[in-house]
Amino acid sequence: MVSVEDLARIPLFANLGADHLGLIVPSIKEQPYTKGRIIVHQDERGTVFFIMEKGLAKVTMAGRDGREITLSYVKPGEFFGEMSLLDGKPRSATVVAVEDSIVLVLTREDFLNQIRLNPEIGIRMLEVFSERIRYADEKIGLLTLTDVQSKLVHYFIHLAGRMGVPTVNGTLIENRPTHDVMAAELGTTRETITRIIGDLRRNGYIKITRKTLLVSNRLFIKK
Ligand code: CMP
Repeated sequence: MVSVEDLARIPLFANLGADHLGLIVPSIKEQPYTKGRIIVHQDERGTVFFIMEKGLAKVTMAGRDGREITLSYVKPGEFFGEMSLLDGKPRSATVVAVEDSIVLVLTREDFLNQIRLNPEIGIRMLEVFSERIRYADEKIGLLTLTDVQSKLVHYFIHLAGRMGVPTVNGTLIENRPTHDVMAAELGTTRETITRIIGDLRRNGYIKITRKTLLVSNRLFIKK
């Protein structure tokens, strides 16, 4: 069972005292998902709210042409599945575990009651929504760029801000998107992505391995 200490580490519950967290504990169920399993299906009715306890999940959407679009990643401490509970509409996206994960699950009723009892939770959620809209706005701006190299540079900076970890050599993105995913996201071909990545790598702007991408601080200046 999840403990008060576990809940205290979740940003959404940051300002709540131990007494209050103790009252939330019984309404939370821990649920494991193995890598590759779908946690939330786009278009289904939403009945529960999730907080990522351990692991990593990817938020995706089926694009108009059927290709998968990655909207975001969910890291430990972050929440998802709130949109359909708040507006009563179907799930807006699919959420899939990209690593073996454990999520905390709350029913719609418990989720809404917690917001009613603790307006601070609502304020924290609005902060996260603001951040999501900022990222979405950035992405819209990115789509207006015409040359693919600029698009890719901005996309890497966007990824670095969203899922990167600062290191002495730059920002490290573990579990980087594949060339195919990058091509789909930027509306170009895999070959073009491979060519531009080669140029950026040779000029010391990035370091790339099969799984990781290191965005050097110079790339932020290049933009
Ligand atoms: P819901 O619509 O209930 O189910 C899918 C979830 O994906 C959604 O709630 C949000 O929690 C999450 N989600 C949808 N769009 C985005 C986005 N652009 N950025 C981050 N998370 C999102």
